[in-house]
Amino acid sequence: TATPATVTVTGAAGKIAYSLLFRLASGLVFGPGTPVRLRLLDIPSAVVAAEGVAMEIEDCALPLVESIEITDDVDTAFDGAKAAFLVGARPRGKGMERADLLTANGAIFREQGRAINAHAADDVRVVVVGNPANTNAYIAHRHAPDVPAGRFTALMRLDHNRALSQLATRLGAPVADLDGVVVWGNHSATQFPDVSYLTRRGEPVTSGLDEEWLADTFIPRVANRGAEIISVRGSSSAASAAGAAVDQMRDWVHGTSGEGWTTVALPSEGQYGTVPGVVTGLPCRSRGAQWEVVEGLAIGDFQRARIDASVAELVSERDAVHGLGLAD
Ligand code: NAI
Repeated sequence: TATPATVTVTGAAGKIAYSLLFRLASGLVFGPGTPVRLRLLDIPSAVVAAEGVAMEIEDCALPLVESIEITDDVDTAFDGAKAAFLVGARPRGKGMERADLLTANGAIFREQGRAINAHAADDVRVVVVGNPANTNAYIAHRHAPDVPAGRFTALMRLDHNRALSQLATRLGAPVADLDGVVVWGNHSATQFPDVSYLTRRGEPVTSGLDEEWLADTFIPRVANRGAEIISVRGSSSAASAAGAAVDQMRDWVHGTSGEGWTTVALPSEGQYGTVPGVVTGLPCRSRGAQWEVVEGLAIGDFQRARIDASVAELVSERDAVHGLGLAD
């Protein structure tokens, strides 16, 4: 068997982790030949609950689980980590202003960025799930100067998967036949799920998606799906978020197939008129276990305005974070 992979999950006692950990333990990211050493990080008041989750993982008697360690210490949590899922974040409490939320999360992701820089494996891959995910990834990356920028990503795969699924239903096509979707910008209501390059079995999709449906139904539905899930299910997306996080890390490690691509939020190098350094949803392929931004796509006026609006929101979050001294 291969060398075991150390995988760190923060927010280990939370809802998303409860779906994520079992998938990781089943080998869905590194494959059936690679044992995993799970590191579960949560805050002191939640460590006992995280121990309960670990007991359940034990009770699955999964052959790939080499060890499970539960801790409230960030330095221990990231020691030797090859994959890090930063799920735990401070939720917006009653009466909390945006600056309070950014300050609380800034402190968390600054510490975790520092600990990843100091202790993680050289080839660590980070997926930030906790919101505001793009800006939290930005903060963590700013505090991990020795880790290449492309190793810090935020999760927009859930938005991507939501878009794919809506399109498959609309077109009456299997999800597997569709490619070329991208969700630009921020994991927020300003995100731009874009079908401009959509293909079905490799052929451009030229009918079945009228502009009115795209603008009035598809885009708002995908962008507001998180709120829709909360109102219908009575609880926020958890299994779908965990599934998307697994998809992102698995594709990163094993590669995306053929010329297909997916959406990853990563520090921009200014592609498509986005702002360098800002963690932005972009079309990406994984080659040689690294994300590469797909280049050369044509951008029309409608796309330009939508991309710019979402990037402007990311820039304002970045500026707020710097204003609070969280990323300097
Ligand atoms: P949850 O509230 O069930 O669990 C969060 C866990 O994080 C709790 O156990 C809490 O104690 C822990 N935590 C808080 N601060 C921590 C710290 N400093 N270190 C380690 N652990 C810490 O929340 P849930 O449902 O699991 O969601 C987690 C995050 O994921 C939220 O921020 C949510 O908004 C975000 N999310 C992101 C999505 C995306 O697509 N990017 C989709 C769905 C949720």
